[in-house]
Amino acid sequence: MFSYSTYLSLGCSFLALAANAAPATLATRASFSGCKTITIAAQTVPAGKSLALTNLADGTTVQLAGDISFGTGVHWTGNLFTLQGGKIIFNGNGHTINGNGAYYWDGQGTNGGVDKPKYTVELKISGSFTNVKVINVPGHAFSVQNPSALTISSVTYDNSAGAKLGHNTDGFDVSHSTDLTITGCTVINQDDCIAINSGTNVVFSNNSCTGGHGISIGSIKTGNVVNGVTISNNKVINNQNGLRIKTYADNNNASVSNVIYKDNTVTGATSYGVIIVQDYTNSGETGTATPGITIKNVSFQGTNSVSTTSSATMVKVLCYPGDCTGTWNWSGLKTSGGKKGTNVGGAPITGYTF
Ligand SMILES: *[C@@H]1O[C@H](CO)[C@@H](O)[C@H](O)[C@H]1NC(C)=O
Ligand SMILES: *[C@@H]1O[C@H](CO)[C@@H](O)[C@H](O)[C@H]1NC(C)=O
Ligand SMILES: *[C@@H]1O[C@H](CO)[C@@H](O)[C@H](O)[C@H]1NC(C)=O
Ligand SMILES: *[C@@H]1O[C@H](CO)[C@@H](O)[C@H](O)[C@H]1NC(C)=O
Repeated sequence: MFSYSTYLSLGCSFLALAANAAPATLATRASFSGCKTITIAAQTVPAGKSLALTNLADGTTVQLAGDISFGTGVHWTGNLFTLQGGKIIFNGNGHTINGNGAYYWDGQGTNGGVDKPKYTVELKISGSFTNVKVINVPGHAFSVQNPSALTISSVTYDNSAGAKLGHNTDGFDVSHSTDLTITGCTVINQDDCIAINSGTNVVFSNNSCTGGHGISIGSIKTGNVVNGVTISNNKVINNQNGLRIKTYADNNNASVSNVIYKDNTVTGATSYGVIIVQDYTNSGETGTATPGITIKNVSFQGTNSVSTTSSATMVKVLCYPGDCTGTWNWSGLKTSGGKKGTNVGGAPITGYTF
């Protein structure tokens, strides 16, 4: 049976846990403070328990030596795998983290239905996180809240088994992030590929997003600030939307500034190719933009090739008059395939004709 002293006598390997292991969140103490490298063995984490490595010493390397699966039999809301610490070097060595979502999927996601672990992977680290496959998440896949520079690369998140009943299965939910790069990742899911809710200097480059709701900034609520986002060289394939900024209706004291879209390719978008709106709510757009959240400086550089299905709208902009400001140079946007859209509310777009 797992215990603190047993663990220490095993050195820095995080071996399989006994089914009756306690407490519910294991290894939340500074158990690994003597370890420069922590190796997590292949294992099935008991149902209703988290694998949480928190308060890691600066510079710790964490690696997977096998696949991690999360047991089922309890509907609960805890996050499944958590890493927290500074300058952490995580390498999944190509192994898989399996949330066994089919046990939870009921078509209602995190909006209702049975309790579901909200996030399968929770990252509160700086450093790097690479080379892992995440499958079958019960709720959202990644929560990313990095206090300083973090690069996430070569992650494959494949939730295709949830095509029918998976819901709200976001890829990367980013908030309170500083200097984040997500690059070379593959996402196949049923909701946003990435949703940037707050943060500074976020780069999302060279990723592919298939089957979900697209690349999103927002939804932005009261108090959220997003400043400095570069979205470049991504492929967005058969999503509802391609590139989106959504601010929440009837919220205020928030802003989105300095967003650059460069050299992205969107194909087969079924609702909108590009959509920037200030009337978003969780249950749909209201049709009426509300004041109090500003969107400043949104540019399309290089060549962004955006094509939609014929019934979709290529570009929709809906701003509260005066709340979309600054420079909106859209000369790098080329659209095709769908219906012409509208620019309602006077966003100062140049270089693109609706
Ligand atoms: C883009 O990501 C792929 C892996 O998905 C990688 O092989 C390739 O080198 C990356 N290209 C750039 C320019 O970073
Ligand atoms: C506005 O939001 C910021 C966080 O971005 C917060 O610090 C500040 O207190 C808020 N101001 C008001 C008037 O609510
Ligand atoms: C918008 O961009 C201009 C330069 O293009 C810059 O001077 C201004 O500070 C930016 N606005 C914000 C809110 O960062
Ligand atoms: C918009 O950007 C393009 C390409 O970067 C540039 O050539 C053009 O001068 C810009 N237009 C305006 C109005 O600034």
